[in-house]
Amino acid sequence: MRIDILTVVPELLESPLNHSIIQRAKDNNIAEIHIHNIRDYSEDKHKKVDDYAFSGGAGMVMRLEPIVKVIEFLTSERTYDEIIFTTPDGDQYDQKTANTLSIKENIMILCGHYKGIDQRIRDHFITKEISIGDFVLTGGELAAAIIADSVIRLIPGAMGDETSALTDSFQDDLLSPPLYTRPAEFRGWRVPDILLSGDHKKIEKWQEEQAYERTKRLRPDLLKE
Ligand code: ADE
Repeated sequence: MRIDILTVVPELLESPLNHSIIQRAKDNNIAEIHIHNIRDYSEDKHKKVDDYAFSGGAGMVMRLEPIVKVIEFLTSERTYDEIIFTTPDGDQYDQKTANTLSIKENIMILCGHYKGIDQRIRDHFITKEISIGDFVLTGGELAAAIIADSVIRLIPGAMGDETSALTDSFQDDLLSPPLYTRPAEFRGWRVPDILLSGDHKKIEKWQEEQAYERTKRLRPDLLKE
């Protein structure tokens, strides 16, 4: 998979996507991430990428020309399955969307900034608008990093243990069961006996029950779906 991210603050994306599973996926050629600075495509001598809104009011708007230039440069090189815009008024991001995106070949993510972008970009290029929650970030970069991270880890081969992404919380609309590791006892706090029993069938059943109980207690809305 190839992900191209368009931003006016590339620095915000460097650290979150250069570590751990994501770095390994890149090293193993499972995923490529290309970050493009929209400013590099500005013809303004000060590399300005924003301007006042025609409607007036506070807040600057991202101009369309430099964004059109990057998008058209990239789409002339390859076909994109989705051109995503990160914005608080987009569709709520969830595991189902991550699963759908993880089987795509090429994805582009445009990070919103300032007050927003010229609506004509959304009308003519964007195929999917995504919000990571009902709150407002200073820009869409952290949202793009969250999308890239959650998608790349689902690509077969990205995780050390192939089955582990399948047992995540939300993957089957249930939260994960509680997890324990050594020591089996610490300050008198014991790991549930069943986990030490070595009976894999019983352990699996216990985990299923725990996952169900936890979901019922913490996220009953998931069971209703
Ligand atoms: N940009 C600013 N806030 C955002 C959010 N909640 N989700 C996605 N992009 C954003």
